[in-house]
Order: sequence, then C-alpha cells, then structure tokens
Amino acid sequence: MASAPHTGISARQAEAGRYDLVVLANRLPVDRTTDEAGRPGWRQSPGGLVTALHPIMKQRAGAWIGWHGLPGPAPSPFVHDDIHLHPIALTADDVEGYYEGQSNATIWPLYHDGVEQPVFDRAWQDRYRAVNLRFAQAAARVAAPGALVWVHDYHLQLVPGMLRELRPDLRIGFFLHIPFPPVELFCQMPMREEIMRGLLGADLVGFQHAQGTRNFRTLAAELLGAEITDTGIRYQGRDVAADTFPISIDVAEQQRLGSDPAVRSRAAQIRRELGDPRTVILAVDRLDYTKGIECRLRAYEELLSRQGLDPADTVLVQVAVPTRQQIDQYQALRERVEREVSRINGEHAGIGRMPVHYLHQSFDRAELAALYLAADVMAVTPLRDGMNLVAKEYVATRADGTGALVLSEFAGAAAELRQAWLVNPHDLDALEEALAGAAFADADEQRRRMEPMREHLRRHDVNAWAAGFLNRLGRIAVGSRTPAPQRAAGSRGRWAEHARGWSARPAGRPVVRSSSGDTAALARD
Ligand code: ADP
Ligand code: F6P
Repeated sequence: MASAPHTGISARQAEAGRYDLVVLANRLPVDRTTDEAGRPGWRQSPGGLVTALHPIMKQRAGAWIGWHGLPGPAPSPFVHDDIHLHPIALTADDVEGYYEGQSNATIWPLYHDGVEQPVFDRAWQDRYRAVNLRFAQAAARVAAPGALVWVHDYHLQLVPGMLRELRPDLRIGFFLHIPFPPVELFCQMPMREEIMRGLLGADLVGFQHAQGTRNFRTLAAELLGAEITDTGIRYQGRDVAADTFPISIDVAEQQRLGSDPAVRSRAAQIRRELGDPRTVILAVDRLDYTKGIECRLRAYEELLSRQGLDPADTVLVQVAVPTRQQIDQYQALRERVEREVSRINGEHAGIGRMPVHYLHQSFDRAELAALYLAADVMAVTPLRDGMNLVAKEYVATRADGTGALVLSEFAGAAAELRQAWLVNPHDLDALEEALAGAAFADADEQRRRMEPMREHLRRHDVNAWAAGFLNRLGRIAVGSRTPAPQRAAGSRGRWAEHARGWSARPAGRPVVRSSSGDTAALARD
C-alpha cells in the first residue's frame, strides 16, 4: 500500500472529538514503516482482521483505535484512506508482554487447540491488563454518548468489561476472529475468570463458528455460574447476547480484481514464469504453526515421490507472509519450513524447474489476485483457523468458475464452503487424495463445486457480516439493561484497581502485586 500524507482530521465528528462508531483492534489498518532512505510511510497491516474491517470503516465515519506496529510513542491521531486512526502507544515491554507474550504465546496457541504449547507468565498477564486498560480508556475518551463500540479479537478480551465500568452509556460489541476453545482447554488459562468477565462486559459477543458460541455459553455457566437464556447469557443482572457471525470478504472488490485485464495478464505471466506446468498449486498463509504448512509440504512431497503428481509438471507456490518474527515458536517454524522446502527441491528439482516456489514476502492485493488466477488448485489446510479469508478470496476472484479449493475441516470457512475438497489435514493419505483429486478435476467438476460457493459468498460478503453484527448491537436497547451497580463516590471501579497496580481476582483468592510500572499513570488519564 502506498504511503499517505499525515493529514489532519477534518470531519465534523472528529472536530467534536467524539465518534458514534468506534472500533478497537490491536493493530491499526496500517503499520508504520521506514524505507531505505529513512523516509517514514504506512503499509497495510497483515492478517484477515484488517482485510475485513478496512472496507467497512472506509464507508462509515468512525474511529479506529489500535497500535501502529512499532514500540515507542504513538503518532497523533490522523486520517488514512478516509479512516480516522487513533494510535495507541506500546512500549518495548508492552510489545514483549502483551503482544508477543500473553496474546501470541499464551492465548493464540491455547485457542488454536494447543497445537503449540501455550506459555503462561504472570508478568505478561500484567502487561495484558495494563494495555487493555489503555485501549478502554482511549475508547472512553473518543466515543460519543451512546456510541457503538466494537472491540476486536483476542488481544483485547478485557476491554468490554473495563469500558463498561468507565462508560456505562455505550453499546459494546466484541468479535473474536479466532476460534473460541472448549472448556477443558480454556480452563488451563490462569486468567480464565477474568477473561470471561471481561468478555461478558459486552452487550453482544460474536464468534466465527457455532462451536465457539456454544463453548462460550457453556463456560459462562460453568465458570461464572451465569444463567443461559434463549437469547444469550444473564450475568450480574445484565443480558449478554452471544451469537455466530462468520466473517467474510469484499466480494465485489475481489471480483473486480479478478476481471481486471492487468491482473489477468499478470496471472498469465506468472504461469509462464513458473515454466507453464500442467498444475499450479498455491498456498498463501502467514508463516504460522496453525496454518498446517508442514503437513501440506509432507503430503506434496509424498505425492511427487510416488508420481501421484508429476514433479516435472507440477509447481507448488507457497507464499509465507512474515509474521510475529520475534517469537521463538515462529522462528523455529520458519527454520523447519525452509529446511523442508530445500529438501523437496533438492530431491525433485530439474535444471530450470523447481517443484516448490517459496516466497517469504508480502504482496499487494493485485499481485495476490493474480496468484489466485494463476493457480489451478488452492490449498488451504490449517490445523485450526478462525475463518480463513484466503479460501474465500480464491473462490470470489475466479469469476469463470474454474479452479479447485482444498480446504481443511478445521478452518471456520469449511462451515460455509461445503463444496470444496474438505479434508482433515492431520490425515496424510486424505490430504494427498484431496490434492490429487483437485489437481485432476475436469472443468465440469470444478464449476459444479465453485459455482455454489461463489453464489454463497455473493450473498454473505463482508458488508453483510458487519451489518449483521452492528444492526444486532444497535437494536440492543440501552434502557433494557439493568443499571450498573452503584459504586462509592470517587471510585472508578474494579478495573481502575488494576491501573493502580493490583490484579483483579475473584473474591477470596489471593491478590498479587502487579509488576507493570506504567499503570499508575494510566489511572490518572
Ligand atoms: P490470518 O488472519 O490468520 O492471517 P486469513 O486467511 O483470514 O488469515 O487472512 C489473511 C489475509 O491476509 C487475507 O486477506 C489475504 O489476502 C492477506 N494476505 C495473505 N497473504 C498476503 C501477502 N503475501 N501479502 C499481502 N496480504 C496477504
Ligand atoms: O485473526 C488473526 C490475526 O491475529 C489478527 O488479529 C491479526 O490482524 C492477524 O492475525 C495478523 O497477526 P499480527 O497482527 O500478529 O501480525
């Protein structure tokens, strides 16, 4: 994405300093970058959350609160691509404890079936609390009276509860982009009650998949003794709705890219550059251990070895988007994947041809669309994934109904894209069968499968997803809620206690002194 000038906020809302819609996500839609000449700029942030929310926020005059991707002071609020951005500062310790630690080394693996061992660390938990409070306070400052505040993803699960204490007038929604785990996994988390209470501070909690919604309701009852009702959960005198809202993509934009002559000609060029093989298989993932890259490489290699696919006439393009590179588990994964790619190429390459093209890079959306058009088979085989937008993008981009999607049963998208070659990625034989089946499908079979999926996406695009969530949240009558409990004059509630350096524990449990030094200043904001 091109850099944009650092413009001042001009909208009427922003002049008043208050917004009717406020989105909070760990990341802003753009990351701060510096080019070789030292010039600062902005680049679109990685991941499905940003892809989905970016077009929504461009249409609505709201504010987006998030981190700009670098440790240190936050830039002043600014407008980028018609979106009003309010950067949150994270210190180097915050990045290590809140982002790399508690969010991505504890919660991320735990919520993804524990495919890597979650690490539990009290100092990270304190950072997580402190940063969540910082986000809640920023939202409390910019939200207009009665505004809709939409909190996103696992980094910010304490925010709904904190924000409710700070601003009981707001309608608060929370959407989780990743899976919500079953009771026995969630209960490993030392902060389990605190996180559930944080989420239950929302009026509406949304999940990608019905299983996540069920897990959440079960946990609310089993962990906190909440009452489960027909419409949701009753907890401490308030009704909290919990429901499933599968996220989607900007289908019209993806179709536009798919029919753009420049993108089409780039797709043809990509195929030529790959040596015009009979079959191009494409995989596009952040380089994350949840994405099943190693299982996929193993299946592909076995297919080449036993001539299920012809090594002279097949290419796998593996795009591995750099992500979370400071975290040990991600560094170890990168080493393993790169070693495996070299091994496969060493054993199966010929002069001028390579069975695996490995690209550890980010691309712009047009280049990605060209890759989708160039691929006969799209292999989306995560071990666990909240949704997986790449699968949806591939289907939407291919307007002529050709192409073949191999999709893991453990991706949220499998609940909708039922005509794909659905596969258990842990089952090597099944994975090989699905890849070969997709590679050898004729045009009739491809269309028979792709058409209903494209039709489904046309009706369930990202606008429908956002409208579904926000309309539901907007219908929640503020007056129907039981008033917040009375607090002593001058008190700012339990969460303010965190800010003064104490962690909230359920009554009767030990109270632990927090180690995060900057939180006292936050409470005075
Ligand atoms: P996750 O959110 O776990 O990263 P998703 O598949 O849901 O996974 O979303 C990934 C998003 O990132 C998609 O919208 C995809 O288009 C985008 N993306 C994937 N690879 C690249 C890349 N190399 N460069 C830029 N964007 C990418
Ligand atoms: O939903 C998956 C997700 O974690 C998003 O929250 C995030 O935008 C994306 O993956 C990318 O991860 P990160 O922000 O850690 O680079």
